[in-house]
Amino acid sequence: MDLSIVIPTYNEKDNIKNIVQKVLSEFKKNKIKGELIIVDDNSPDGTGKILDNLKKSEKRLIVIKRKAKLGLSSAVLDGWKVARGNVLGVMDADLSHPPEKIIELYNPLKKGDANIAIGSRYIPGGKIIGWGIKRKMMSRVATLLSRVFTEVRDPMSGFFLVKKECIKNAGLNPRGFKILLEVLIKCKSLKIKEVPITFTNRIRGKSKAGIGEVLSLLKNLAGYLKYKKTVINEFVKFGIVGTTGAIINLSILYLLTEKLGLYYILSAIISFLVAMSSNFFLNKIWTFKEKIKIQIKKKYLKFGVVSTFSLLVNLTFLYIFTEVFGIYYLISQAIAIAIAWLLNFIGNKIWTFQNN
Ligand code: GDD
Ligand code: MN
Repeated sequence: MDLSIVIPTYNEKDNIKNIVQKVLSEFKKNKIKGELIIVDDNSPDGTGKILDNLKKSEKRLIVIKRKAKLGLSSAVLDGWKVARGNVLGVMDADLSHPPEKIIELYNPLKKGDANIAIGSRYIPGGKIIGWGIKRKMMSRVATLLSRVFTEVRDPMSGFFLVKKECIKNAGLNPRGFKILLEVLIKCKSLKIKEVPITFTNRIRGKSKAGIGEVLSLLKNLAGYLKYKKTVINEFVKFGIVGTTGAIINLSILYLLTEKLGLYYILSAIISFLVAMSSNFFLNKIWTFKEKIKIQIKKKYLKFGVVSTFSLLVNLTFLYIFTEVFGIYYLISQAIAIAIAWLLNFIGNKIWTFQNN
């Protein structure tokens, strides 16, 4: 057996037959020795019965029935446990993930060019059809935050193939919706290939993802820090650089104003620019370990944009805490700096200093 694809299902009676047939015919068409494993959580709509019927005529179909709705990630892991292929995969039942892309994900693994291949909506050529603005925003926020941990453009994708050996001893956590992110964070020496896909929102049935999934993701992200020590490292260095920047800022402000007699507002602008530039260079070569010459102008500009944005966030929160909540302004400022600083770090990490 070469490839085992798992499809978790919960109330997919209107989609199940279609997706099973499409995936199996992709196996046939592309001469893949594949099996399809459906993990159904005792769907009340009768998905299980349809599966029983399909199984009679499809020997490449395996059905696992669980007692209750135990969650998407754990369904995938349970499916992978019985999988016989050396490549494991996952996709949704609702036809959001195009089955004809399976072969494009499979080829790079077969050739050895990659050991994980991801169907990606957020690289050129990829797109999403049929989502409203709210769902799009939720996905964007979750994706951006996840990028603190990975350079993958679509770490929330539910459509990917991975070599079995990569996930064997990774200790994947079966909670929630974020199985790919888990794999990306916990598996070592991944060679990643992203393939553009068009994600089409389901036509039949209801989505089971909601704001709850985003909240649980947020909760889990902090926990991922312990697997990604480099992020903590960068955060600490970013803080040290920021502190040197503040000292440089104040010193120059003092010198220009007191020794050279410049108007203090002008001194403040100059000292901000000098400190920001010094922060930029130190973060580039020390915090994020980049060669100084790589895209220096573009990155300097981005760094400037993020810094300015953080300053605005800082001032906004200072104002809100002080004026709206009546907090003493020095305390307001301490909280505001902390928030702005975190955004400053995240912004520069996932935008300025990410290279793809
Ligand atoms: N067995 C089982 N148990 N299956 C489940 C469960 C569960 O508790 N919850 C959902 N599923 C199945 C659905 O039946 C479907 O086949 C698949 O998991 C995805 O669920 P949807 O409800 O269609 O998710 P979505 O379309 O909102 O989210 C998709 O896109 C996200 C990225 O934006 C999924 O692919 C997510 O994995 C992905 O993160
Ligand atoms: Mn869906």
